[in-house]
Amino acid sequence: MSQYPALRLRRTRASEWSRRMHAETVLTPANLIWPLFVTEGEGEEPIASLPGVSRWGLNGIADRAREARDLGIPCLALFPNTPRELRTDDGREALNPDNLMCRAIKTIKDAVPDIGVLTDVALDPYTAHGHDGIVDANGYVLNDETSAVLVDQALVQAEAGADIVAPSDMMDGRVGAIRAALEANGHVNVQIMAYAAKYASAFYGPFRDAVGSRGLLKGDKKTYQMDPANAEEALREVALDIAEGADSVMVKPGLPYLDIILRVKSEFQVPVFAYQVSGEYAMIEAAATAGAGEREALVLETLMAFRRAGCSGVLTYHAPLAAKLLAR
Ligand code: PBG
Repeated sequence: MSQYPALRLRRTRASEWSRRMHAETVLTPANLIWPLFVTEGEGEEPIASLPGVSRWGLNGIADRAREARDLGIPCLALFPNTPRELRTDDGREALNPDNLMCRAIKTIKDAVPDIGVLTDVALDPYTAHGHDGIVDANGYVLNDETSAVLVDQALVQAEAGADIVAPSDMMDGRVGAIRAALEANGHVNVQIMAYAAKYASAFYGPFRDAVGSRGLLKGDKKTYQMDPANAEEALREVALDIAEGADSVMVKPGLPYLDIILRVKSEFQVPVFAYQVSGEYAMIEAAATAGAGEREALVLETLMAFRRAGCSGVLTYHAPLAAKLLAR
């Protein structure tokens, strides 16, 4: 016997108040982390492959921090466009306490003391070859040598006032090494958000334009970033990063990897974040520009999907737009 008509799932969908009352998932500005690109000078530099996103000088960064505060966005993620002449094979500018990243952290903390600042720990914006670490004569990224530099980079960022350091390099063992160094240097409350499951993805192109590493990158990042074919390996990565002291873990890219987010969240009781990366942003913008979809609806639907899959929050270039839409 059919259950119809006693059971009609459309009943609770029939009016707006009822749909709101039955929503299983909520999305608020508190779920958004806004990635920002910092550059020398005071101008605004639009990024052609990321329409609507710019690199900002320090004054612009302070303005963005105030904008984020007013929109209820709790945290900013910073990425520096290091001047070309400061990029070296060893990426040593990453360790300069007065580098662009550190000045941006201080600028934000002066302008808006109570907004969270997340910093990327990896060498790619500082190396002449565009890789995330130290390379040997064959172009192989050396694990332990790189990890040792990342520890110092994370300490420099913490000294400058970073609230969350986020290693995005995928070296083995770096989360534990960074945690130990933060503890030993009095930064017990600096969080680590580990890019735990970061894939060697075709979706990072516009980001590499934004930080000026696309033209420099030799080869690809497949010896350290994960193979898109793998899911079990992501769970092993997450387990290791948690054991090493990560406070939260990230899956990246976002939308093509919702299955990974769901599996991580089902397996581990930790906060999970997703990075809706530059190529995903560009796809939504291209779809909207082509009239294939409506920008605001696409943005909110994708962000809700991350929440439904189990994310505490999402790094997204659409953060200010989404926050505005959610405030309505
Ligand atoms: C590099 C880094 C990348 C992104 C964040 N940190 C690029 C890469 O791994 O090549 C990508 C973010 C995006 O595409 O929006 N450590």
